[in-house]
Amino acid sequence: MNKITLLLLGVLLIAIASCGTHKYTVTHDFPAAMAPHIKADYVKQWEKGRVLYGMNCAKCHSTYKGKHEIIPNFTPEKLTGYELRVQNARHEAAMPDDIVSAEDLALITIFLTYKKKN
Ligand code: HEC
Repeated sequence: MNKITLLLLGVLLIAIASCGTHKYTVTHDFPAAMAPHIKADYVKQWEKGRVLYGMNCAKCHSTYKGKHEIIPNFTPEKLTGYELRVQNARHEAAMPDDIVSAEDLALITIFLTYKKKN
């Protein structure tokens, strides 16, 4: 193997390794009074919502500081308003996220409501 090939291989390996180290830093923050079995259910939904947010919303709403993803702290009022707007697809023809199902949007709302604030 010549030096160039080795160099390219090295660059490739670093690129692959850095993909693997991109991890979500966001954590959840449920009310302390929430009963453990209810919290366990919510955590599952929250995890799904996190993935769905990443697929459907992050490209417009997340900002990045290096590898650290900053997800906006939407207030409950903003989230409810948004959910109502998106559910009416005719009013929201201009928004690409009318393809997000009501169920997905509910999960995303749980994620955004209970993520730890920035
Ligand atoms: C194509 C880009 C784009 C995508 C994708 C997108 N949004 Fe938005 N969103 C915007 C823009 C631009 C606004 C501001 C305009 C407005 O308030 O109507 C907005 C507004 C909002 C608001 C209201 C914020 C406020 O301050 O009133 C919420 C909540 C929101 N988006 C959540 C979401 C969620 C949840 C998703 C994923 C399902 C999503 N958005 C996907 C571009 C996007």
